[in-house]
Amino acid sequence: MARKPLIAGNWKMNNTIAQAVVLTQEISNIFESDWADTVDVAICPPFVDLKPAKTVLEFDKTKISIGAQNVYWEPSGAFTGEISIPMLKDIGCDYCIVGHSERRTLFHETNEDVNNKVRALLADKVQPIHPIVCVGESLAVRDEGTYIDFVDAQVRAAFAGTDEIDAKDAVVAYEPIWAIGTGRTATPDQAQEVCAAIRATLADLFGAECAEGIRVLYGGSMNEGNAEMLLAQPDIDGGLIGGASLKAASFVDIVKAAL
Ligand code: PGA
Repeated sequence: MARKPLIAGNWKMNNTIAQAVVLTQEISNIFESDWADTVDVAICPPFVDLKPAKTVLEFDKTKISIGAQNVYWEPSGAFTGEISIPMLKDIGCDYCIVGHSERRTLFHETNEDVNNKVRALLADKVQPIHPIVCVGESLAVRDEGTYIDFVDAQVRAAFAGTDEIDAKDAVVAYEPIWAIGTGRTATPDQAQEVCAAIRATLADLFGAECAEGIRVLYGGSMNEGNAEMLLAQPDIDGGLIGGASLKAASFVDIVKAAL
């Protein structure tokens, strides 16, 4: 089954509202609407920039989705500082990054937290916000040689308690920590090896047909120079782009590499 690639920009904690509007407008200006037939594109700005970015895209009728970088699993209540799924739906989010390694490392997010978020996002069948579930090993785990087992365990933990009907709406992003923001990209072979292993885990959990339909992205120093080779791998169905998503021309060049 041919999977439609997804190129998602993870802006991290960058851009005020004014800067977000400028960057979204720049991307919108060079994005050609027929590309959306071949590739799904999303930008994931900080929470406060979501609505302004969405407004620009809606005004231009640009077929680019918006996604959040995090979410809390309870629908409302006394959870100071958190943002809920209904709030993200209200703004028009189609995606939400879950379990990014920076959240796991700097903010102590556990596999259980990630699982709660994934299950809450997948619970809505009518208008699901697609979780982009991030997994990936540290340099120490890579050097030990146990990275396949490590990533397999992260995928199983993230999807615990879900079934194939839920899981088909999810996206998984393989982001080796040693490649994030370091300029040290995984080679296409390294990335393909783990993305194929992730699909094998998904097949074990949800059956081969479901796993064939789930997009597995690569992330970690992906840019306009290396995107084409990475995206040519059979189990890499797109990219989660950090640094290179902050420049409109670079981000759009990566989108073009997926056409
Ligand atoms: P990078 O970040 O492209 O800057 O390495 C990727 C990510 O963290 O999602």
